[in-house]
Amino acid sequence: MSSFLDIESRFGPGITATREVCLVRGEGSWAFDESGRRYLDFSMAHGSVALGHAHPAVASAMKRALEEGILNCGMGFSSPFRARLLERLCQGLGGKFRGFLANSGAEAIETAIKLCALKRPGRKRFVALRRSFHGRTLGASSLTFNPNYKRGLEHLLLEVDFIRPIEEDLDRVDEGVAAVFVEPVQGEGGVYPLPPDFLRALRSRCDEVGSLLVADEVQCGFFRCGSLALSVEDGISPHVVCLAKGMANGIPIGACLWREELGPLPPKVHGTTYGGNPLVCAVALAVLDVVEEERLGERATRMGRGLISLIEEARHPRVKEVRGRGLLVGVELTGPVAEEVVRSLQGKGVLALTTSNRSVVRFMPSLLVSEEELELAASALLSALDELER
Ligand SMILES: Cc1ncc(COP(=O)(O)O)c(C=O)c1O
Repeated sequence: MSSFLDIESRFGPGITATREVCLVRGEGSWAFDESGRRYLDFSMAHGSVALGHAHPAVASAMKRALEEGILNCGMGFSSPFRARLLERLCQGLGGKFRGFLANSGAEAIETAIKLCALKRPGRKRFVALRRSFHGRTLGASSLTFNPNYKRGLEHLLLEVDFIRPIEEDLDRVDEGVAAVFVEPVQGEGGVYPLPPDFLRALRSRCDEVGSLLVADEVQCGFFRCGSLALSVEDGISPHVVCLAKGMANGIPIGACLWREELGPLPPKVHGTTYGGNPLVCAVALAVLDVVEEERLGERATRMGRGLISLIEEARHPRVKEVRGRGLLVGVELTGPVAEEVVRSLQGKGVLALTTSNRSVVRFMPSLLVSEEELELAASALLSALDELER
């Protein structure tokens, strides 16, 4: 074991470095371990390193923010970086939004929970979807379906009803529900794109009973699946959109953006010391510039289709289905062997991800991934699956 793995296993919380590799350097789609071995990184820190490792635009944005010298100013003071980022995110959603910048996806979700509870006083219940994942704060854990993510904490959680993505379950959204949380593409649950028709029906049901609809786009948003927010692109008109992951190329950030008509948050009940700091906002603005200039949303859609075709066309007997949107791709295998396959891929120099569904291998490469890299990952997957056969 490397000395750093040793140190983390001794001093860490017991949940870090389970992949047993210490990554020390990165370049584009490639990450390098201590021995200099390189890995094709299709995990990208759970999709957060959107432009790949060591992107020069990120480095120069950080340098500029460092030179200007205000790394944090707190929420009480205005910052040109925070102001510009909020404006661009809200305008990207169609203008009539305002928002709060946080430090993670779960914090964005926590903000949405508080916002919806405050805007729908007296309603104690929330609705989420089966297979959902919304993060690991107590509020976000409450909205997460898989019981393994909250075992032992059940007594502290919010009241949440989990529905299936079918019309028959819509009447469980009633006048007692403050908000419904939904991922347009369920990532951690096994990469399930939800039918836009169902999501539009969900929004209509929310309107009938006065509940709010929150689109959790922490994983599928920010251009990974083709657009800033799929829920907006697909005409679902959510009241609230949460983003995080790729926004600042791996530097901690989250955003909870809500329709102007809901009004502002009241003072004191929410806030943050670090959220929306000038350093992270400068990076997020630079990432947005690259995404827009290089049309990375469209590219993600095209490259994602390419990856799906490469795997589908091989017609491997262990592949049941390949699904996803843009560069969030799930490969459902014929049995619960995803963990074994991800381990085998790592041995072959490709980093992939598992999900809560033990049959699904997940790929989240950089939005700048090349065709050649897609081919390398697909052929490593097929070879890992061949080895399963034996
Ligand atoms: C859909 C979704 N929501 C929320 C979260 C939580 O984000 P974070 O890990 O940044 O707290 C995640 C993380 O994977 C996610 O996929």
